[in-house]
Amino acid sequence: RAFRLLFACWLYAALSPLHAATAAPVVVRFSHVVANDTPKGRMVLQFQALVAARSQGRIQVNIYPDSRLYGDDDEMEALRLGAVEMLAPSLSKFGNVGLPEFEVFDLPFLFSDLAQVHRLTQGAVGQQLLAALGRQQLQGLGFMDNGFKQMSARKPLRTPADYQGLRLRVQASSVLLAQMQALGAQGVALPFGESRRALSSRVVDGTENPLSNFLTQGLADVQSDVTLTRHGYLGYVVLTNPRFWASLAAADRRLLQTALADALAFGNALSATLDQQALTQLRSMPGVRIHALSEAERERLRTAAQPAYTYFERSVDKAFWAQIRKDLA
Ligand code: LMR
Repeated sequence: RAFRLLFACWLYAALSPLHAATAAPVVVRFSHVVANDTPKGRMVLQFQALVAARSQGRIQVNIYPDSRLYGDDDEMEALRLGAVEMLAPSLSKFGNVGLPEFEVFDLPFLFSDLAQVHRLTQGAVGQQLLAALGRQQLQGLGFMDNGFKQMSARKPLRTPADYQGLRLRVQASSVLLAQMQALGAQGVALPFGESRRALSSRVVDGTENPLSNFLTQGLADVQSDVTLTRHGYLGYVVLTNPRFWASLAAADRRLLQTALADALAFGNALSATLDQQALTQLRSMPGVRIHALSEAERERLRTAAQPAYTYFERSVDKAFWAQIRKDLA
């Protein structure tokens, strides 16, 4: 009997870690603010599919897109409180939660292409930013591109004179507010999910978006003119709650991290295609006029927007800004 008891104990001890690691179901609630048919929306769907396949359905990712569960105003709080497990806010939404260094990505005309953005996100600056998230009880898991923003309104926005007196919706970023002010407009920070209503009721006159967001939020119905300014970058960081992340079995954490890396690569590869498709679709809409800028017009906007840099330089650490300039030189 003693032997049988001993054997039972050995069997239990031998099997239980395995049991715990392979059998416990895990649910990951992933909330975001854009439509499914955008680079971020498609990335999250890919993550869901990869996680389901690789865990044989044991780990489930439930997606809440389009601000359906939480919007810009409350999603970070929901993550901290454990009401959701993952988010992918744009990099422009971190100045508001005590991390002004993220607003470097909002500087107008800073990047000429995505390769330059990646020099920051994949280098020391990116590492520093991910580490800084810990200060706000957030854990960063990776960066993702949407692409470049274009201006829209009910008229073309080619020169600083065109911006005078307009109210333009921006994300809650001080650098974006400074950018609009420098151009002669008034920036109005509003949650993404409220953009369409604010434009249609004329609370604001215009806004800035990558074209896939412009198209999928139905903004073509309320904005007649899109000017291809390509003046700023929009990208994301995928976030989780550090307590949730630490509570996972190591193998599950690895599975999620690898599936996310693959989904981010998929989303990044797709973002340029979706941008191009959105442009083609918008060009075919009778109610929308697309305006290309000349180099000289773009240069004039770039010069006018410079005060946004002074603002940013004053709000961040000097060494951090020096590192960025070195990386981009
Ligand atoms: C916005 O608020 O304009 C964007 O951050 C939306 C998004 O997540 O792409």
